[in-house]
Amino acid sequence: MPANRQQPPGRAIIVGAAGQLGAALADDLAAAGCDLGLCGRDGQALAALADRLRGRHAVDIRHKEGDVTRPATLADFFSAYGASGPVDWVVINAGIGGARALGGVMEDVATGERMVAVNLVGALTAIRLALDLFDGSRPGRIVVIASLAAYIGSPESPVYAATKAGLRAACLSLRPALAARDVGVTIANPGYLADRVADGAANWRPFATPADVAARRIVKAAIRGRAEIAFPWQMALLVRLLASLPVRLRERLYSRLSGDPLARGT
Ligand SMILES: NC(=O)c1ccc[n+]([C@@H]2O[C@H](COP(=O)([O-])OP(=O)(O)OC[C@H]3O[C@@H](n4cnc5c(N)ncnc54)[C@H](OP(=O)(O)O)[C@@H]3O)[C@@H](O)[C@H]2O)c1
Repeated sequence: MPANRQQPPGRAIIVGAAGQLGAALADDLAAAGCDLGLCGRDGQALAALADRLRGRHAVDIRHKEGDVTRPATLADFFSAYGASGPVDWVVINAGIGGARALGGVMEDVATGERMVAVNLVGALTAIRLALDLFDGSRPGRIVVIASLAAYIGSPESPVYAATKAGLRAACLSLRPALAARDVGVTIANPGYLADRVADGAANWRPFATPADVAARRIVKAAIRGRAEIAFPWQMALLVRLLASLPVRLRERLYSRLSGDPLARGT
């Protein structure tokens, strides 16, 4: 399939493919006829996902272990997949979450460091490697999964919010230079996903979106060439409203809505 704009990609890489959203993105893209290169750390989960996808869709699925914190493993996969044909999209979904634990204030040091390494540095590594695949001969697209937490932070996961805010800022900064190379960037900012509550994550998960619905929205937005998408609309609206308020008022409102007394500043 040609790599025309406003059409599903013909070949795409998904980094962090075997989790709930990654697998849903893979399913959605494969259903649209897209050949896929899947990577992540868990080879068995990737192989199981590849088998499932092959059983459902008549597309070529390849997979290999790759860790965004070990650039050489990712580079091996990207160059092997790129050598087997042109790549239209690179979807960077790898990310880890986790709620505050350190005295009820923030994520513990090891978790926080890991979040920075995976969600921010690792995602930027994947972006750098993606650029080697886009030689300007056809349009390319990078799709990154950030979070609604990127806009106003998250009292329950401060470091997580910082990594997603950093990733979003980097992608917004990159967009003009990449546009000049015919590479689009779509930043997806989901609210809570519904399928699985991550260990230690907040109980307050309003308007949580099933992973398949989230994946459909992200793929549709990227096909349309959208710069950014935030959903569900109720949470995106609330976040915009909160962002427009003075910080103390915002904290008071958030604390009341979430029932989290620790979300309130002084
Ligand atoms: N869950 C939510 O409520 C929510 C809300 C907003 C945004 N998000 C974001 O959406 C994305 C997907 O989240 P999810 O809920 O689907 O999480 P998930 O099920 O835990 O999936 C995370 C994926 O990231 C991969 N990954 C983790 N560390 C990696 C590493 N070092 N190198 C390569 N891949 C790595 C995992 O694969 P391996 O374990 O095989 O490496 C897995 O495929 C994340 O970026 C997350 O921050 C999630």
